[in-house]
Amino acid sequence: MKISAAALVAVVALSVVLCASSDGDYSSTVAKVKIVRGKKLCDKGWKCKGWSKYFCNLTISDYFQTYQFENLFSKRNTPVAHAVGFWDYQAFITAAALFEPLGFGTTGGKLMQMKEIAAFLGHVGSKTSWKSPLLFVHRIAILGGYSVATGGPYAWGLCYNREMSPMQSYCDDYYKYIYPCSPGAEYYGRGALPIYWNYNYGAAGDALKVDLLNHPEYIEQNATLAFQAAVWRWMTPIKKSQPSAHQAFVGDWKPTKNDTLSKRFPGFGTTMNILYGESVCGNGDIDAMNSIVSHYQYYLDLMGVGRDEAGPHEVLTCAEQVAFNPIQPAVTASS
Ligand SMILES: *[C@@H]1O[C@H](CO)[C@@H](O)[C@H](O)[C@H]1NC(C)=O
Ligand SMILES: *[C@@H]1O[C@H](CO)[C@@H](O)[C@H](O)[C@H]1NC(C)=O
Ligand SMILES: *[C@@H]1O[C@H](CO)[C@@H](O)[C@H](O)[C@H]1NC(C)=O
Repeated sequence: MKISAAALVAVVALSVVLCASSDGDYSSTVAKVKIVRGKKLCDKGWKCKGWSKYFCNLTISDYFQTYQFENLFSKRNTPVAHAVGFWDYQAFITAAALFEPLGFGTTGGKLMQMKEIAAFLGHVGSKTSWKSPLLFVHRIAILGGYSVATGGPYAWGLCYNREMSPMQSYCDDYYKYIYPCSPGAEYYGRGALPIYWNYNYGAAGDALKVDLLNHPEYIEQNATLAFQAAVWRWMTPIKKSQPSAHQAFVGDWKPTKNDTLSKRFPGFGTTMNILYGESVCGNGDIDAMNSIVSHYQYYLDLMGVGRDEAGPHEVLTCAEQVAFNPIQPAVTASS
């Protein structure tokens, strides 16, 4: 028994490595199936070599295709966008493939899978849009101009890949022994779920085995890497005792009594709590929260799922939630 459990872990770890090099054909493939210790495992070839229970269901490119990506991010290559030509579907699918064996976009049935992709991309869209509270350059211009005229305020996701006018270099000396700032490197916000600060670049770099501490600029040069860092953040708890955004969203998390008293329920609202804490949550229906929620709802509609599937206010939002980590800065932090 012990040996097969270890072998199973090894298979999952192996698929993570091999998925990094997946490329090419994004059409559906037929799964190979085997049974290990009474559990059904599947292998879908290029989509991630290796056996995972998550491959027995649809994979992301089965239900989320190029035209849907183009639909969601229809304005990203317009001349006024700041990351023209940077983001594309292939980068997203290649990055996602690294985490599909762990359940990203492959957990639950098709409805839950589509909802998770809408939720993840809702966060991404809101943080990389004209209207983003974090990347708010041109915000005033846009409110009077482009947004309402062409496609509404939620059609502008992936128009940025970096913070435009950083007010600081985001180097926190407290972490100088683990993640010392590299001379000349700047740790301003970059990516799909923007990474800020030396310690966050360091932690993401460790996980992805890329030297982001010395080369934070890689994130704004490589869309696959930028999406990988974002999906890693989504899949990884900030603290070991807390759920990841993925676990909170798909319901792979049992709230404690303290969670329930703090109004933290499985669902989209809690993902905002995990990623942004009290800068977004526990302050009622504020703009910073509504922008993220609205992007999610907009994507649910465009994907044909429909915003009604997002659930009631207390599940969809974190307006009344107590933050998991009350004294966090206004950015995603590592443990
Ligand atoms: C596969 O999909 C079914 C429903 O279609 C779901 O019950 C099951 O949990 C899914 N498997 C995994 C590993 O998420
Ligand atoms: C971009 O990042 C991915 C993932 O780390 C890597 O496989 C790929 O080689 C990188 N592309 C370039 C042009 O460096
Ligand atoms: C309960 O939640 C609050 C706020 O999130 C936190 O400060 C406190 O440490 C938690 N208590 C326990 C026992 O987890």
